[in-house]
Amino acid sequence: MNDLLEKIVVFTGAGVSAESGLQTFRDSGGLWHQHSVYDVATPEAFARNPGLVLDFYNERRRGAAEAEPNDAHTAIAALEDGFDVTVVTQNVDDLHERGGSSRVIHLHGKLREARSSDNLGDIRDIGDADIKLGDLCSRGSQLRPNIVWFGEEVQQVDNALHIIREASRLLVVGTSLSVFPAAGFLGEARNAREKIIVSLDLDSPPRDFQWRQGKATELVPVLVAQWLASVPA
Ligand code: OAD
Repeated sequence: MNDLLEKIVVFTGAGVSAESGLQTFRDSGGLWHQHSVYDVATPEAFARNPGLVLDFYNERRRGAAEAEPNDAHTAIAALEDGFDVTVVTQNVDDLHERGGSSRVIHLHGKLREARSSDNLGDIRDIGDADIKLGDLCSRGSQLRPNIVWFGEEVQQVDNALHIIREASRLLVVGTSLSVFPAAGFLGEARNAREKIIVSLDLDSPPRDFQWRQGKATELVPVLVAQWLASVPA
């Protein structure tokens, strides 16, 4: 962290990884059009049919492992040449990290981590490996993905809110802003004098935001170049 640099938050959703080949959730053909949230993304679903839920996330993990960061991820990382940048993401893939971003807060967890189903704090790296039925934590409980399911608490909330409140610019990329509390965090960016959202589609852009409609890989590199050019030499 460099205290002399302007603080920026880049807040992202599934749309930033769409052009890396990962499906979004709510676009036509998106994951929540193919799977019921209630079957694969709730604690109750895991209690009822853990195998189905594990399969769903094993497939997501394999997809993410095969995907490569795209030009939007690498442009976001390049912002670090002129700014103190924190990426706050709803995504569970690691494409920001592999694209070069050094500080990434995952609000909804990480595919490459498993955790005990009875101990929130018992988290381990699993890399690209599947989680299978019968894979147990040290206390003998089934392992589950370290993913925030519907009805569970978002991770790193205080950290994310603190950083969003301090940001002087906010760039939002590829999210429908339909999942709370994450979407509501943007209302906390009271010190941001520039707020831009890049998205293919939106029901209504949030108040105070400029909406740049289009693909992340096309629009984000242009915006990043403009912001870097605005940094005093
Ligand atoms: P959504 O699927 O709800 O929204 C994706 C957004 O990205 C939409 O607004 C699209 O228009 C936009 N989009 C798609 N392709 C794009 C592209 N190439 N360039 C720019 N924008 C593009 O995904 P999220 O908002 O991320 O949570 O969804 C939020 C949360 O809902 C996820 O983290 C997940 C899901 O349920 C959990 O599973 C806990």
